[in-house]
This record gives sequence, C-alpha cells and structure tokens, in this order.
Amino acid sequence: MSDVSILTGNCKGFVSGKELKAVSKAIALIHNVLQKKECPGSDFTGWLDLPSTIPGQLIKDIEQTALNIRDNCDVFLSLGIGGSYLGARAAIEFIKPNFSNEFRDEKPKVYFAGHNLCADYLHDLCALIKNKRVIVNVISKSGTTTETAVVFRIIMQYLEKAYGKKGLKDKIICTTDAAKGALRRFAEQGGYKTFIIPDDVGGRFSVLTPVGLLPIAAAGIDIRAVLKGARDFEKKCGNPGIGKNPAYKYAAIRHVLYKKGKNIEILSGFHPALHYLGEWCKQLYGESEGKEGKGIFPAACEFTTDLHSLGQLIQEGQRNIFETFLVLEKSAAKFSVPKFKEDIDGLNYLAGKDIEFVNRKAYEATAAAHYEGGVPNMTITIPRRSAYHLGQLFYFFEKTIAMSGLLDGVNPFTQPGVEAYKKKMFKLLGKPGA
Ligand code: PA5
Repeated sequence: MSDVSILTGNCKGFVSGKELKAVSKAIALIHNVLQKKECPGSDFTGWLDLPSTIPGQLIKDIEQTALNIRDNCDVFLSLGIGGSYLGARAAIEFIKPNFSNEFRDEKPKVYFAGHNLCADYLHDLCALIKNKRVIVNVISKSGTTTETAVVFRIIMQYLEKAYGKKGLKDKIICTTDAAKGALRRFAEQGGYKTFIIPDDVGGRFSVLTPVGLLPIAAAGIDIRAVLKGARDFEKKCGNPGIGKNPAYKYAAIRHVLYKKGKNIEILSGFHPALHYLGEWCKQLYGESEGKEGKGIFPAACEFTTDLHSLGQLIQEGQRNIFETFLVLEKSAAKFSVPKFKEDIDGLNYLAGKDIEFVNRKAYEATAAAHYEGGVPNMTITIPRRSAYHLGQLFYFFEKTIAMSGLLDGVNPFTQPGVEAYKKKMFKLLGKPGA
C-alpha cells in the first residue's frame, strides 16, 4: 500500500539546492532536541509518540463506548471548539460518504456544536434532534471554554427536559483534563463517563487522544487503522533527513519560501471530503506558528470551486503566496461523463471519461498555471480516503508544523494570543473578576 507523499517539483526556481541544504542542517539539529522532547515547549510534546504508546486498554474503552453509543442513540452530538472539535470533524468528513447524515440508514447521525455562539444554529440543532435519542460528548481540555460551556448548558437543559435529571447519566460523556477544570468537577459530581486528555498534549495536537478518537469511533470508523497509519508515520517522520522524512521536506520548503516573502500558504483540496482537513490544518498551523510577529498565514480553499472565486487573485494578485495541494490518488466511486447524441454543449469529447480524470486534469492545470504565475506549489498525495491514510496525514501535518515553528524560532505548542479576545469578551459580558 502506498503512503501519503509530497511532490515539490513546482518549487523549482523558488527554492535552491543550496538553500535546502542549509535548512536541512538546521532541521537535523532541531530534530535531536525535538525527538528527545527537549525543545522549547517540551511539556507539550506528548503527541510525538502517542500512536506507539497509546494504551491498548484505552483503545478498547473507546471502542466499547463507541459501540454503546452506536447501539443506543440516533444522534451523537460532539461539543467542542478548536482542537477539541476540528480533528474529529476532519476525520469523519474525510472517511464517511458525503451527505452521510442525510442517509436514512445512517446511525447515529453525528452533529457538532459548541464551536460557535449562534442562537439560530442552536435553535435549528435542537429542532433537528427533537424526539431523537441523543448522546452527548462534551470535549474541553481546560473545561472552561465559553463557547462549549454555554452550549453544553443549553443542551443539558434540553436533555433534562427529555430524560429527567436521573436519565442523564448514560447520555453524557466528558472528555477533559485528568484533574483540573469545571468539566472535570461537573463529571465527577454527576458520575458521568469520562475520558482524559493527557497533560502533555495540547488541543490542536490532540486528535489521536480520546478528543478525536471517541467521536471518530462513534461514527463507525476503524480507529485502530487510524492509529496504525499514524504509527507508521511516527516511524517514517522520525527520520532526521529531509530525503526520507516527508514532513521535514515539507517544513524545509515552507521555511525557505517564507524567508523569501511567501507568507501566505493556501491548502487546496480537490475533493469536498478534504474540506475539514484543511480547516484542521488552519488551526494547527496558525496557532503553532503565528506569534512574536512571525508566521505563515494559512488559508484553505476547495478546488475547483474556489478557482471560480479566488483563482484570479492566486493567479495574478500579490506574489506572497505559495500553495499546498491535497490530492487524492483514487476516489472510491467511478462516474463517467455520458455521451449525448446531440452534442449541444460540445462535451462529447469527454464522453466515457471518468469525472476523476477531469478533476485530475483540473489539478494538473491549476498547479502548472499557478506555478507559471509565480506561485510555487507542492502536492500532498493521498492514496485513498482510508482510515489508515488519515492516520498518516494527521501525524505528517503535526510533525511538519512542530518542525516549522521550531525552525522559525517560536514555541509551536503555545497559543498565548488566543486569550486576548477572551479577556475583552469577559469584560464586555461582565464576568466577575474580569
Ligand atoms: O489548540 C488549542 O489549545 C485551542 O485551540 C483549544 O483547542 C481550544 O481553545 C479549545 O480549548 P478547550 O479544549 O480547553 O475547550
């Protein structure tokens, strides 16, 4: 089975061999401290060996809980924001069929909340789940995140009306810190089932902990295959040299491009199923690198859709962009263009060709046109939308960004800037002590 890999040919002329050699030397040095967990932010490097160290008992517990969820509810509601939300959503959308919640036989339907403060969203969600059997997984490492906590209150009230206070016990699962925070206290008081987010794993690196694994398993995805993919990439991306380590190759080129003024990276997939993988990357990249006046601004696009909205700017706008395409080697379905007797739209030249072929040509054309327009680009090739390759991807992106941040001289595992809006919001809301 082939692996997730990276193509960098369309960086020729933007990144020289000499520059890559210099950055590889820096990478080799940083690699030593990163692998030994002695780098800046070493307290939050638990994700590095999660795939190979996750206890078998924990995997069993997650699988058992997921089976219970699948047998006993129509709706599984995952509440969380940022790192406590995006990984699970990315995984579910990557693996499950498009529109899976719309299929009559899909059980449970999986919905997300706690990632916004929108009354209409909540109102519509409550209408959607009315009279359905619901199980909620509330996920918050700090246990105090306002968006998630406020929405949880509303959902609790809703569940209490439906099931009574006593009936709540098997309807709520809390994923939070082992000891600290309001959610931990709440879970202990109510005697709810809990899962622990390890101390040394930060939110955006937590998809391979119960934060991501429980919702992923509840959606019916094989988490052992996800972990196997991640474990294989823990090994592959444990190589110090950029020739053998795709994450370091990607980090090296990003770094050279950034130093030359390419300070916006657009991650573009050609499949809607990759949309939330792009969203997950945005958080992982943005929070890890964007500090101390530094950082590449990560944007995500969905092509070919966005070629008809942002394509103009990418082709001819400011030349401070580079692109990373996320390309699937093989779709599961075949769908060919039909032949019409009357070729009014002139598309018979494509008759019998698979849509995937047309999509592939769209990608190749986009990569070439943008390159010629002054936008260097790389391609991350994903063999299939399988759980195994998803695990590879998660680990690959985490390792890339850890190395990228360290190369840029920042601690990639903090997010102090996130507090600024919170402080102002608490003041405006009249929070005691704010
Ligand atoms: O990466 C991070 O640490 C943040 O984005 C968090 O994931 C996000 O703020 C949610 O935090 P919590 O899990 O504490 O509710």
